[in-house]
Amino acid sequence: MSITSVINYKGGVGKTTITANLGAELAARGRRVLLIDLDPQASLTFSFYPAAQWEAELAYERTVLQWFGSVLADEPTAALHPYVLTPEPANALLPGAGRLDLIASHLQLVDVDLDLAAALGGSRFQHGSPHFLPLHRALADALATEAFAGYDDILIDCAPNFTMVTRTAIVASEHILTPAKPDYLSTLGIDYLRSKVSELVSDFNRVATPGPTIDPQYLGVVFTMIQYAGSAPISASRNYLRLTDNLEVPVFRQTIRENKTLFGTAGERHLPAVLVPNANDKVQYELQQLASEFLARTRA
Ligand SMILES: Nc1ncnc2c1ncn2[C@@H]1O[C@H](COP(=O)(O)OP(=O)(O)OP(=O)(O)O)[C@@H](O)[C@H]1O
Ligand SMILES: [Mg+2]
Repeated sequence: MSITSVINYKGGVGKTTITANLGAELAARGRRVLLIDLDPQASLTFSFYPAAQWEAELAYERTVLQWFGSVLADEPTAALHPYVLTPEPANALLPGAGRLDLIASHLQLVDVDLDLAAALGGSRFQHGSPHFLPLHRALADALATEAFAGYDDILIDCAPNFTMVTRTAIVASEHILTPAKPDYLSTLGIDYLRSKVSELVSDFNRVATPGPTIDPQYLGVVFTMIQYAGSAPISASRNYLRLTDNLEVPVFRQTIRENKTLFGTAGERHLPAVLVPNANDKVQYELQQLASEFLARTRA
């Protein structure tokens, strides 16, 4: 089983889209995949469930908000597996063994973030707090239970920030995948992310030693929403794609082009674009290739 956080400090760079489509393509290949939505915007959740259904069936009892509530409460943390959902439209298109499960998010997760930070003595995440390790490890510990052992891949869609909820995702992950647009601000976000992750890893390991430490690996940057003019990316993007030679993180060979029509249609159907039948589009092929590269990199 591999656990990957999908994260970039920059918003709107395709994190949620990559999480949903990578997960869907892996499941279409017969793998058992769990997606976890840790963004209070809940975009990943809403890409599988209509808002009305979320409100009626999920919001009050079946999202990660309620589970984090138990992490904060003065009682043993609840098991996470009862929160696992299996979205119908996507799973109906998967072959026998394939499975695409989801732990849904909630708009109020933003309050949990504040409460978790408060439990650690404020926004500086005080290392001396006796809660430092258990709170940071909450998600890692929950995913280490037998109930999750049957998954091949777990992908965590993170919010574009580095608050406590995001930190629990990094601590739980062996891998970090960073979608980015080929533009100046997105590439700046990558550097900032790297420094925040190193800081977290060294803080955590200092407190955790001699117990188990963490060492999340950068799988790479995936460039998304690339605009093409004819058969090549527009020149503005080409410059940034080349710039990655200077980034000290690996970069996926596969890039994902912009296609507003396909992603728009997929959204209305509550299906990841890669699963839309008969779309026969280049971007679906790119998403499939991305999954192959992901598998090669996570096995490496
Ligand atoms: N390859 C693409 N072509 C066209 N539109 C895309 C593509 N990838 C993503 N989008 C669209 O761009 C918008 C932002 O994408 P997405 O929500 O995946 O980004 P994000 O990084 O998760 O954003 P946030 O930081 O808000 O969580 C969405 O409307 C999505 O449908
Ligand atoms: Mg998102």
